[in-house]
Amino acid sequence: LDRVVIAVDGTSGSGKSSTCRAVATRLGLRYLDTGAMFRAVTWWLLRQGVDVHDADAVAARCDEPVLVSGTDPAAPTITVDGEDVAVAIRTDEVNRAVSPVSAVPQVRARLLAEQRAVIAGDGGRGEPVGGIVVEGRDIGSVVWPQAELKVYLTADPAARAARRAAEEGGSDVGATEAVLRERDRIDSGRATAPLTMADGAVHLDTTDHTLDEVVDVLVGLVHEAV
Ligand code: C5P
Repeated sequence: LDRVVIAVDGTSGSGKSSTCRAVATRLGLRYLDTGAMFRAVTWWLLRQGVDVHDADAVAARCDEPVLVSGTDPAAPTITVDGEDVAVAIRTDEVNRAVSPVSAVPQVRARLLAEQRAVIAGDGGRGEPVGGIVVEGRDIGSVVWPQAELKVYLTADPAARAARRAAEEGGSDVGATEAVLRERDRIDSGRATAPLTMADGAVHLDTTDHTLDEVVDVLVGLVHEAV
């Protein structure tokens, strides 16, 4: 498992983060949440007052913030210009703005390079090297098509909304489902690196499965693949 790369893509709220963190912890691998990187750029743009629906304005400024992503699955961290934004990037405002920002090619190009650097490890900057579980929308299709294992996680929108609303402490399920569906629509429909099941990916529908069950299946798939 020394240099293995596990690419996990899927729809919003399908349980990717909890699953990937548990799998990485069990196998002693690093973990990268690429969604957090798109959220961090979005958070920064919102704070600068940039209109996130103006693709030219987003493209002009998206290279400015400096991002650092931690890779410890027990404690995922992300900073923007040295500021810890792990909590700030999970607001409703960011949820609604992140898909339009992520559709802008310059945003994707910038983060693609940074994602590949984290996956490959080090390069002298002191980052840990080793196998990694990477979650996102385009990891198996664009970021790391040579991944040893590619998984595509989905679940019924109603199930995803119910889980997400419970996590958020009882927010409205109907409104949560509407935001999830809208993100899926934009993420699947964009021209650059849309959400899609990568060639060779294993499709897992988590609707009727617990987190532990999905983690067991994935760990089994990793052992088969390497
Ligand atoms: O995974 P998460 O829900 O945090 O991702 C937030 C958003 O970031 C997604 O809805 C999508 O717009 C964008 N994203 C992306 N490509 C990735 C990961 C996330 O476009 N690899």
